[in-house]
Amino acid sequence: MEQNRSSFTGKIGFVLAAAGSAVGLGNIWRFPYLAAQYGGGIFLLTYIVLAVTFGFALMVAEIAIGRKTGLSAISAFGELSSKYSFIGYLGAIVPMIILPYYCVIGGWVTKYMTVFMSGFGKSAASDGAFAGFISQVNEPILWFSIYLGLTALIVLLGVEKGIEKVSKIMMPILIILSIFIAVFVAFMPGAIEGIKYYILPDFKNFSFTTVLAAMGQLFYSMSLAMGIMITYGSYMKKSVSLESSVKQIEFFDTGIAFLAGLMIIPSVFVFSGGDKAALGKGPGLMFETLPKVFANMYGGEIIGLLFFVLVFFAALTSSISLMETVVSIFQDKFKLSRVKSCIVVLLISVALGVPSSLGNGALAWFKIIGMDILSFFDFISNSVIMPIVAFLTCIFVGYVIKPKTLVDEVEITGKFKGKKLFNVMIKYIAPIFIVCILIFSLLEAFGVIKV
Ligand code: PFF
Repeated sequence: MEQNRSSFTGKIGFVLAAAGSAVGLGNIWRFPYLAAQYGGGIFLLTYIVLAVTFGFALMVAEIAIGRKTGLSAISAFGELSSKYSFIGYLGAIVPMIILPYYCVIGGWVTKYMTVFMSGFGKSAASDGAFAGFISQVNEPILWFSIYLGLTALIVLLGVEKGIEKVSKIMMPILIILSIFIAVFVAFMPGAIEGIKYYILPDFKNFSFTTVLAAMGQLFYSMSLAMGIMITYGSYMKKSVSLESSVKQIEFFDTGIAFLAGLMIIPSVFVFSGGDKAALGKGPGLMFETLPKVFANMYGGEIIGLLFFVLVFFAALTSSISLMETVVSIFQDKFKLSRVKSCIVVLLISVALGVPSSLGNGALAWFKIIGMDILSFFDFISNSVIMPIVAFLTCIFVGYVIKPKTLVDEVEITGKFKGKKLFNVMIKYIAPIFIVCILIFSLLEAFGVIKV
């Protein structure tokens, strides 16, 4: 075991740090476009049910593994049972795949922030502005490089703590601003239809891919199935309640995603005149709709600027945590210095990030199983590797080290109220469910079955 691991001061410290990693583009950018695309209310319902059952059990498991061993993911699995360190390695691939395209989206946010800063917010509201921007060659790559460089600089200089402090102040402001924008949108003509679509589940819209998308989103948004929460757990003090910390992180994370959907989905209805095709816009949804909302708002330039600044910081804490993870893996496993390891991670990020950016324009003709490059990286990490890591984690906890090992860890601070749920989820429901969802959604994707 590693000695002298520094730890978070208390429960609030732990919850805020973990929430800082969890709350990011996943909540504000990714959740709304998936919810729009996969049936609105039915996606929201599926997501919430998964979060309080499966997400809860998996997050408890990961944090408990980290706290019990005091190690990060790669070593933690091996420490508990030597044959299983491969699960840690598999999970470690995920942040490496996500980081580059996360920085592409981070670049888009940076660009929008500066557009609003220089007073040109209205120009971002015109039809085609966003598509015109991302299909260019140089500009998106420039913003990607700036964002990636900034993330790397912060990691290199070791000033994460400062950024985290800023982000802790920003998070409550983001919540208040999101509520304000959502209320503003709710009063626009046509918004009610959008709110209904987002909140009321319509079972006609159900499909296995809805569930797979919701499950992938859950992992992504809560930073699960990629070793991150294990690392956070390794810094958690034994005196802090693990169960209630998990509940608070989940509440924060889901709440912010919900609010983001409430801002964005009704605006789609407002500005598309109810045209359902607009719901399937995918990754561009936030960037296309919100500038239109700001353009229709008194003081919208300022509100828009504030919004993109807040999203920028939320994204930055997440990309820092992603890069930090990958850098420390390279440092530990290849015995590289911190600077060298940072350079390697930068090179890999450029090698994967530049094609992801070009996939929206110059390389748009290049499709992998029907997807552009960015969507493919997103799919392979969220819908393939993460479910496999989550499945293996359940089997590992349920049958190799046995749930009791982790239940004891949780119970250091008192009774584990969700113990039954945890046991049943980890041993039976979650593993069976993941396998079924993976098989059915693949069959559906290839047209073998139709739901
Ligand atoms: N959970 C983050 C989000 O929702 O944006 C993404 C993420 C951040 C994943 C940091 C992993 C991570 F280490």
